[in-house]
Amino acid sequence: MTGAALQGLWYLAGLSREVKPGAMVRRILFGEPVVLGRTGAGAPFALRDVCPHRAAPLSAGRVSGEAVTCPYHAWSFSAADGRCLSVPALPSDDARDPSTIRVARYALAEANGLLWIWYGAGEPLFAAPDIGLPPSFRPKTATVVETSGPFDEAVVGLVDPAHTPVVHKQWWWREGRPRADKTKAFAPTALGFKMTAHAPSSNSLIYKAIGGAPVTEIEFRLPALRLEHISTATRRVLALTAMTPGEAGTTRIVHLNYWDFALFDALLPFAQGMADSFLKQDGDILRLQNENLSRTRHRALYLGDADEPAKWYFALNKAWSEKGEAEFVNPLAPATLRWRT
Ligand code: FES
Ligand SMILES: [Fe+2]
Repeated sequence: MTGAALQGLWYLAGLSREVKPGAMVRRILFGEPVVLGRTGAGAPFALRDVCPHRAAPLSAGRVSGEAVTCPYHAWSFSAADGRCLSVPALPSDDARDPSTIRVARYALAEANGLLWIWYGAGEPLFAAPDIGLPPSFRPKTATVVETSGPFDEAVVGLVDPAHTPVVHKQWWWREGRPRADKTKAFAPTALGFKMTAHAPSSNSLIYKAIGGAPVTEIEFRLPALRLEHISTATRRVLALTAMTPGEAGTTRIVHLNYWDFALFDALLPFAQGMADSFLKQDGDILRLQNENLSRTRHRALYLGDADEPAKWYFALNKAWSEKGEAEFVNPLAPATLRWRT
């Protein structure tokens, strides 16, 4: 089952630091050209990156104050609501009102160094994701990978525990340790499910490096957000992975790490390298999988508890596409899963 991206939800559009004041960035999201920008005063905005006049990309133009000017004939548009503010070629006594022309605008929200874009008709029905960190936290590492294949398959990779020891074979993770049976409790949440707080597997050097007695909580939320919070009495780490449909048939995967203690700051280049190699492994296997998915009609098999979270994702997805954001009810029940890892 691989449908179009769910609507009526917030997706990660980019990082705050990618969009400088008075500048714009072009990005293909949901198969649509989108311009992410920031006014001179610093307010972020997102518009369809297609000029209503003759389709030039607004992102190739410029931002002046609160307006965006097209690079082709210099029509300008309000960054806040997309209304046309001026059409320079019209004679000065022309009576037409340019503000009846609009470029589509997307709702955008900014927090913790992230830009969230609302994908759906109308205005957002609820606030952008709260990632559970104080506002001062910014991502310390950032990794972006573009991969090919159905969006749903990529999202399943976020919740699939069985690939982890196979695809992510790093010495600093758990290389060489024998598999052991694992039992974990899961509970439904507003937009997904979480593995309830537990002491993390002791076989990872990462967890050892954090020290103390860490507790982790791993959460998945529609449409495609995975949050892994690790905390001790004095330290917190968040590994965030979010996926956004890009060009048709491609997915943009963003993986970020947040933390609040100096020991990890000293290891920053190393941590960035680790995150990059981790995410590349996911991108590579999804691309390989798509070598077949794009050529065969394949019906996936789901076997054992390790494949249960994938089924949960599809159940959530189905409930959302049938009910929409106004009437969605989480169809999941609390569960305990057992698998070998
Ligand atoms: S194409 Fe944008 S002003 Fe003409
Ligand atoms: Fe993975």
